[in-house]
Amino acid sequence: MELEAGQVAVVTGAASGIGRALAERFARAGLNVVLADVERDVLADATAAVAEIGVEAMAVLTDVSVESDVQALADAALERFGGVHVVCNNAGVGGRGDPWFGPLTSWHWVLGVNFWGVVHGIRTFLPHLLAGGHIVNTASIAGLLPGVTPPYDASKHAVVAISEDLYNDMRTVGLPVGVSVVCPGWVRTAIVDSERNWPARLGEVPDPGPEIVTGHIRRAVAESATPALVADQVADAVATGRFWVIPQDDFFDLAVQRWHAVAERRDPEPIEEMPGMPPRSQIIAEIMEAMSDPAPPTP
Ligand SMILES: NC(=O)c1ccc[n+]([C@@H]2O[C@H](COP(=O)([O-])OP(=O)(O)OC[C@H]3O[C@@H](n4cnc5c(N)ncnc54)[C@H](O)[C@@H]3O)[C@@H](O)[C@H]2O)c1
Repeated sequence: MELEAGQVAVVTGAASGIGRALAERFARAGLNVVLADVERDVLADATAAVAEIGVEAMAVLTDVSVESDVQALADAALERFGGVHVVCNNAGVGGRGDPWFGPLTSWHWVLGVNFWGVVHGIRTFLPHLLAGGHIVNTASIAGLLPGVTPPYDASKHAVVAISEDLYNDMRTVGLPVGVSVVCPGWVRTAIVDSERNWPARLGEVPDPGPEIVTGHIRRAVAESATPALVADQVADAVATGRFWVIPQDDFFDLAVQRWHAVAERRDPEPIEEMPGMPPRSQIIAEIMEAMSDPAPPTP
């Protein structure tokens, strides 16, 4: 679908990171943008920045895990602009807590935002795209390769799967709706601090994982691809009707290796060398060393 001035893009998770870069990228192509997010203040900042590019920008406070919120987002967009052309289901959270021994709420949170947010976005906006439009779902390389955390991997595998189904369904019935799925490795965003948006209704925030691992992830993310690079590739995929947006070859190679192992019916093995991270064996050694350190004397 050719991107044209005056069209309308809706972006969820638009206050920060990849979502904000998408909003700015579409604005530079002349599209008016509806920015949706749960973080009120940063959403206002992002919306002002998009408006400065010279298009109309509207902020709608939206929790994508709540269907009625996404419905209200669509209503607001349609009321203001009369139509929608590009919908980016991008809002997502990284996760928190021990998946097997910690509280179940960490699963509910991640699946609520990363999976149900995408389902709500597709189901709510699809009826308004039938004259021609494009849906972009932000998954992750974790949608092709398990290895981040179980709830995150599960949510992103689900996003890849339903995106592929949607793409095929649109072609089968001949509807002019393009679909793309975005599968990045690390991107320089605030994803490591996702718990800032932990919803009060889920109770106490689960404990973080081992600090050593979080520290390495924080550094890897800080040194990784920019959100603008991802946004450029998404804009290109929308314009050319391409499904896969896989920005980093090194991460993609790992996913391909995993599929070679599946093809050979080999049992799974953890990823030893993840781009941007120290070897897994080194991280484990660091954790072991930290655990064996004697506790500091009490004053
Ligand atoms: N940063 C990475 O390394 C990376 C890699 C692969 C995929 N992704 C995916 O990219 C997407 C965007 O994340 P990001 O990296 O830009 O992180 P980010 O934290 O910078 O941005 C995510 C945005 O989503 C918003 N959000 C969180 N919960 C929400 C909810 N319930 N409803 C609406 N908005 C909500 C946040 O407020 C934030 O503005 C996510 O789906 C994430 O899983 C990120």
